[in-house]
Amino acid sequence: MSFRTLIRGGLVVTAADELHADVLVEDGRVAALAAHGSAAAASWTADRTLDATGKYVIPGGVDAHTHMELPFGGTAASDTFETGTRAAAWGGTTTIVDFAVQSVGHSLREGLDAWYAKADGRCAIDYAFHMILSDVNESTLKEMDLLVEEGITSFKLFMAYPGVFYSDDGRVLRAMQRGAANGGLTMLHAENGIAIDVLVEQALARGETDPRHHGEVRKVLLEAEATHRAIQLARVAGSPLYVVHVSAEEAVAELAAARDKGLPVFGETCPQYLFLSTDNLAEPDFQGAKYVCSTPLRPREHQAALWRGLRTNDLQVVSTDHCPFCFRGQKELGRGDFSKIPNGLPGVENRMDLLHQAVLDGHISRRRWIEIACATPARMFGLYPQKGTIAPGSDADIVLYDPQAEQVISAETHHMNVDYSAYEGRRITGRVDTVLSRGELVVDRRQYTGRAGHGAFIPRSTCQYL
Ligand code: URP
Ligand code: ZN
Ligand code: ZN
Repeated sequence: MSFRTLIRGGLVVTAADELHADVLVEDGRVAALAAHGSAAAASWTADRTLDATGKYVIPGGVDAHTHMELPFGGTAASDTFETGTRAAAWGGTTTIVDFAVQSVGHSLREGLDAWYAKADGRCAIDYAFHMILSDVNESTLKEMDLLVEEGITSFKLFMAYPGVFYSDDGRVLRAMQRGAANGGLTMLHAENGIAIDVLVEQALARGETDPRHHGEVRKVLLEAEATHRAIQLARVAGSPLYVVHVSAEEAVAELAAARDKGLPVFGETCPQYLFLSTDNLAEPDFQGAKYVCSTPLRPREHQAALWRGLRTNDLQVVSTDHCPFCFRGQKELGRGDFSKIPNGLPGVENRMDLLHQAVLDGHISRRRWIEIACATPARMFGLYPQKGTIAPGSDADIVLYDPQAEQVISAETHHMNVDYSAYEGRRITGRVDTVLSRGELVVDRRQYTGRAGHGAFIPRSTCQYL
């Protein structure tokens, strides 16, 4: 027996259109859209009707960069797949793409199976995986082909973190060549980690131990240089390239120059680079540790270039890089030595709201909000049009968004498993009201109705953005 939900009276906003339309959902998928009051809409009957009057009806957010339960920096990210996906749903995100990790000396298979096991039966919303390559060799290169067939179609390599995830240029090139052959998209953490480690050592030797020095040693030039090098390696390999967590104006310039040449080079930035700055890293009493992530926060002058990049499509995606560590007991590991502060910020719950605020502040249009947060991440990572839009046949991952509600972001009220908010006290206009995941109510008029285990693993096709 089929189950039908009717969403009446809202403004449907997708990357392509704004329509005053009702949406019919049948058996977890979008069945049809029709103008309010049209004969078609009037003829629809449903088991359940949601009143969206005065609200936006938008596709659920697709957050293409999360790290649930990531073991990192001598500890592990504090959100599990259960708590992190629940928080994501509260914030209007209905799909995450998390990073499975291959550890040095182990196969991709082992790393991936560990991630399947962590997520299985625990997620409130749908999820997919990228694969982090920490050990590129003959055997893991062959495994990449198998993963692409299995729906793991993107691979992250690191030019940073020597001794942990770092790959040298030769390994990066070999992985890119393999991706060019098998359709996998190469994602790069573009920072010159070898040079950064020298600067870390020198700073610590001078007694510069505070969190703000994390921002000072991870220099803009070393992000720009690595971005430039990544682009040249991708050209040599004949591979597309997606640069993660772009934070510096000079790195955006490298991407823009490559794109002006027509190269298939893409960039992602994150809310922390758009809304926070080195002022936060410099907060006294070790509070700056809350804002330690890599690439680091930059002086606020860089924000204008990031917003411009998002408008000109030199940057295509905003993801969170959600990698939360509690201040107490986790960030505190780096008291007296900034290099021991676990790198990462919470944010999976805040992205859709912060970007809505950016619409109101005039940085981006309403449709661009949906494009960078829903449609393009889905296209980039082979999930479109199942995810990222509201169209007949798409999964009914739908958010009823109240554009007039006022909220103040706070750790007191958020749902992420972390003891602080990077956006504490920030006033936002706009709030998620109701969330559907494949037609099931996960948040119903600000009440949580989801369940661990509803979320399913989604195998992905190859990049659809080329
Ligand atoms: O600081 C960050 N970004 N932590 C997560 C790992 C990464 O590099 O994405
Ligand atoms: Zn990274
Ligand atoms: Zn990350």
